[in-house]
Amino acid sequence: MIGCQRVCLLLCVYLCVMSGLEPVMAQEANYDEAQVPAYTLPDLLTDLSGAPVTTPQQWQQRRRAEVLSLFEQHVFGRLPNFQVQLRTKLRSEVPDAVGGLAHRRELTVYFTADDAGPQMDLLIYTPAAATGPVPAFLGLNFNGNQAIESDPRLHITESWVRNNRELGIEDNRATEATRGSESSRWSVERIVRSGYGLVTIYYGDIDPDFDDGFRNGIHSLGEPVSGERAGDAGGSISAWSWGLSRALDVLQSDARIDASRVAVFGHSRLGKTSLWAGATDQRFAMVISNNSGCGGAALSRRAFGETVARINKSFPHWFCLNHRKYNNNEGALPVDHHMLIALAAPRPVYVASAVEDQWADPRGEYLSLWHAGPVYRLFGRVGMPSEQMPGVDVPVQTDVGYHIRSGKHDVTDYDWQQYVKFADRHLKAE
Ligand code: GCU
Repeated sequence: MIGCQRVCLLLCVYLCVMSGLEPVMAQEANYDEAQVPAYTLPDLLTDLSGAPVTTPQQWQQRRRAEVLSLFEQHVFGRLPNFQVQLRTKLRSEVPDAVGGLAHRRELTVYFTADDAGPQMDLLIYTPAAATGPVPAFLGLNFNGNQAIESDPRLHITESWVRNNRELGIEDNRATEATRGSESSRWSVERIVRSGYGLVTIYYGDIDPDFDDGFRNGIHSLGEPVSGERAGDAGGSISAWSWGLSRALDVLQSDARIDASRVAVFGHSRLGKTSLWAGATDQRFAMVISNNSGCGGAALSRRAFGETVARINKSFPHWFCLNHRKYNNNEGALPVDHHMLIALAAPRPVYVASAVEDQWADPRGEYLSLWHAGPVYRLFGRVGMPSEQMPGVDVPVQTDVGYHIRSGKHDVTDYDWQQYVKFADRHLKAE
């Protein structure tokens, strides 16, 4: 039996090598802290010429641009540079949604003059009692806007959705059964009761989450990619980030939302996206990453749980092609993800983990936030107080926020409770 397993493993490695694929699937993920390789993180406050960065001006004018460009070149790729004239059309408006607590709109944003062209639907909640523009959370969702609440009046997304037999989806079309399917992840009632707006968009409106060679979604706005894309051309995370910025463009002229106080939020792959959107668009006033893991808040060099090789293999369309150079070679990356967090500075940033989400490396997520501290201090802000992680369900909030919640990979009302508290501290008008 043992001999048979060994032969199978050798055969698998042989086939991977012969086919040019790295045998990453043959490797077990590491969950043992003692097996984390020794590593040295790139120094945030030394620029590429070796000069120290000692003032906020030097960070903003010089070092920040370097770090951003390194992430474009080696991790996410550049954002699309499509020049678009945004048009909007109100699809629906309900003054008394969520048991009368929320004013709710569905707003279609068209990227071209063609109503059948690429477009995204914003689902916008604001407190029904609001008398002026409110601060808001903006985040992408996984299943379509109809998944936020079970209200039958919400438009069911017509974009591509993943086959999900549990929800009765067989053919990439969302069904009635998807209504409200993601409601536990969006504490709409808590958000509006606390005086905030919530704006969400189905991520598949922007770029359907499968590897189609960058043709569908907003990619149809550009030239079709022939052959391999350029090494630093953006992947889907850059496309989703671009969509979030276009939503913020639209919110600039929305009378119900204060666009200067919008927190960009995301969970998991969409938490990687919220960090990248916050880095590339400094108009976002706050950045929140929920269980974002590898390629998000977690330090790549720890190679704990999901690794660079693993994520590039499973999701070849998320990052830029250059990122593959660091498969099983994280030490050569000119950045690590504490630098992604630092790109949010001096704006408040929140990182959240979950105990049972070891795949996302909670400790690596915390350490990124901790190691972003010197940039916050440069601005006179306060980072995490200790290199030791706080206890489970013991949030720590300064100018940055962190908690590790009990339970699994998810977004819960507990998470939202902390985000609202953090926003109360940093986004409420003085
Ligand atoms: C997978 C993937 C993660 C990602 C997650 C998600 O687990 O490996 O990197 O964060 O999906 O987005 O749900």
